[in-house]
Amino acid sequence: DGKRSIQSKAKPLHCLSLLFPRSLAPSLPGPPALPFLGNMFELSQDHLPIYLTGLARRYGNIYRLRCGSTTMVILNSSELIREALVKKWSDFAGRPHSYTADKVSGGGYSISLGDYSEEWKSQRRLAHSALQHCVAESLHCLIEEQVLYLKQVLLDYNKKPVDLSEDFTVATSNIITMLAFGKSYEKSSVHFQELHGCLNRIVSLWGSPWISALDSFPLLRKFPNASFTRLMEEVSRRDELIGGHLYELKQKRDSKEGQDFAAPLLQYLQSLEGRVPKMTLTDSHIHMTTVDLIIGGTETTAAWLSWTIAFLLHRPEVQTRVYEELNSVLKGQYPRYSDRHRLPYLCAVINEVLRLRPVAPLAVPHKAIRDSSIAGYFIPKNTIVIPNLFGAHHDPEVWPDPHSFRPERFLEGDGSCLRALIPFGGGARLCLGESVAKMEMFLFTGYLLRDFQFLPASSEEPLPDLRGVASVVLKAKPYSVIACPRA
Ligand code: HEM
Repeated sequence: DGKRSIQSKAKPLHCLSLLFPRSLAPSLPGPPALPFLGNMFELSQDHLPIYLTGLARRYGNIYRLRCGSTTMVILNSSELIREALVKKWSDFAGRPHSYTADKVSGGGYSISLGDYSEEWKSQRRLAHSALQHCVAESLHCLIEEQVLYLKQVLLDYNKKPVDLSEDFTVATSNIITMLAFGKSYEKSSVHFQELHGCLNRIVSLWGSPWISALDSFPLLRKFPNASFTRLMEEVSRRDELIGGHLYELKQKRDSKEGQDFAAPLLQYLQSLEGRVPKMTLTDSHIHMTTVDLIIGGTETTAAWLSWTIAFLLHRPEVQTRVYEELNSVLKGQYPRYSDRHRLPYLCAVINEVLRLRPVAPLAVPHKAIRDSSIAGYFIPKNTIVIPNLFGAHHDPEVWPDPHSFRPERFLEGDGSCLRALIPFGGGARLCLGESVAKMEMFLFTGYLLRDFQFLPASSEEPLPDLRGVASVVLKAKPYSVIACPRA
């Protein structure tokens, strides 16, 4: 009847898929696909995560969509996402190859867009160990510096209603550019505006249907396409800007002038050049790793901060409770990351915002690199798998009253809520910046909610819209807020 729960069928289907050849395995449910266009209508919906979650209520937590000749499988529960990404990680660690991704990722040197291969594994392992090195050595200080700078910016607004989203982007971007190039920028600086303008234009152009059509319909590549030309211009500009920084850093290092130059991530990576077994770590790898970290590490955490303030404006009593917890536990001190176990309510708020608005709502598409199965359904090699994290976080079977902002749910029960929370994906493609993001989210909220009370811009204006705008990142719509310093 189209409304059955796939989870309850998962076990018998799994046994069936072992018993029968794949031609007899049950076929995936899904909405009817039009000839040639497939499910383009479904895939071009305005808020795709909400739309896909709605389809799960109709077709179950696993269903298929078609786009041209490509089949996509959408997973809408934590259990199914974990089965694919964690339990069967080696089957689903690929990324779909696409014409446009190849152009944007400098010919496959990107970690986030690169397909699974020995070279990719080595590159990701290196970037991971470089980030862990930074987390241990310098990240806490870097975040503190940026959050104190942000505090001063908020004080300078002097209780004026303002949109803080760009200030959040400056702070999170500066953490990554400090790690990467040892540089931070003011909001008004040409460098900041150029770099972020360029990266934002790449993300939004790349999401446009005029450009995605080039992946599904190769014939279109033969015709002039103004959006694609602009995309390529922005990619060249990005490479010029980042390449310039990397070159400057290399010059400084070689001339010994930069002995004390703080750019821990890049210094660590560059120190490994030529010394990594099984791969040649080239400038292109370092370049695209830097791009990955700046793109992955800026808008995501900044969007999460905007969502947090938006929810707190709707629920002032939650803000008061966080403030009281901070005061009673820390007695006026700022929190250290090691204090997180003593601040359970603050952590519950962080998790509840991540649940309701996972900022990468559909993660990044995965690809089956061999024949496999999910929930007993046969999944052939090369199938695209979309983990709908937004859908998993609104699954009514796991989260009672899934649309309510209720941080207490993380403090009740047996910890099953925490196990079902999956905002960073999992397995071989787990977010590379998870540990950076967790420290940032904790310190930003700990410092800001200790020092400020966030108030609605005015009693006449509506409170922030909580639906948001979904593209690769799920962002809150612009809103103004007053940051009122605590006495
Ligand atoms: C990938 C979430 C912050 C770097 C991802 C993915 C998700 C995610 C869901 C895709 C996982 C998958 O494909 O299954 C988040 C959230 C963040 C955040 C919720 C903050 C609240 C960061 C930060 C950095 C970062 C701070 C960098 C310092 C990356 C990279 C990838 C990635 C490089 C690609 C990994 C790969 O393909 O192997 N992130 N992220 N992210 N993230 Fe994050």
